[in-house]
Amino acid sequence: MSQQSAPEQKTTHFGYQEVPLNEKQHKVADVFHSVAQKYDIMNDLMSGGIHRLWKRFTIEMSGVRPGHQILDLAGGTGDLTALFAPKVGPNGRVVLADINDSMLKVGRDRMIDRGIMNNVDYSLVNAECLPFADNTFDCITIAFGLRNVTNKQKALNSMFRTLKPGGRLLVLEFSKPIYPWLSKIYDHYSFNLIPKFGQWVTGDEESYRYLAESIRMHPGQEELKQMFATAGFEDSEYHNLTGGVVALHRGFKY
Ligand SMILES: C[S@@+](CC[C@H](N)C(=O)[O-])C[C@H]1O[C@@H](n2cnc3c(N)ncnc32)[C@H](O)[C@@H]1O
Repeated sequence: MSQQSAPEQKTTHFGYQEVPLNEKQHKVADVFHSVAQKYDIMNDLMSGGIHRLWKRFTIEMSGVRPGHQILDLAGGTGDLTALFAPKVGPNGRVVLADINDSMLKVGRDRMIDRGIMNNVDYSLVNAECLPFADNTFDCITIAFGLRNVTNKQKALNSMFRTLKPGGRLLVLEFSKPIYPWLSKIYDHYSFNLIPKFGQWVTGDEESYRYLAESIRMHPGQEELKQMFATAGFEDSEYHNLTGGVVALHRGFKY
């Protein structure tokens, strides 16, 4: 695959397109500026609400405790932040961080509407170069965000640096279905129906075509696990959810 790993690489993938390295971030930004207002309704529609179960499982695996410092990276409209905030309590903190101000604004408004205010901070960040001190967080989550990042290994390295020793990283992301029959149904669904839903609900078919393509270009379960090891994570493992349509990877910094 064309993920940047060598210094001489000048292009990367944006869905199935090969684009100059410095253009991907802008193209991803255009996608999320375009869909931000309708992002939540589309998530429920496309997944039949199952994304809520995947996210609850992520919280279960996070080991979150009162007083913990959590980074919800690429947190967008804040689904995980809303689940973490009551669990860390008044002495803990959740940082809802995203590269896209449109997504972050929707997320902040949602938290305020739900009365979640005292222990949540907002941060406009690029996952590849996190502006936090070494050893800051007990837990970092990145849900459906990593596949949009230009240099995924650099992002994982940056997450490793900012986790405390003993801290854990959870990556929830689309992955590779483990059953051939499921792959066929899933391909049909994601390449034919999802862009149509995108057109009906957001008026933006292209962004949802990018979604389907970017999922296919994302590293599979074993490759991502290897990238965890390269970043320095130990005891890494993954859980296939919904037959591997999604996988939750978890790794520890010791
Ligand atoms: C599909 S949304 C996921 C939002 C949320 N985590 C969820 O699960 O509903 C992907 C998010 O990743 C963000 N993103 C993309 N590239 C990023 C980067 N390099 N650094 C931080 N966030 C990024 C996008 O702005 C977008 O909000």
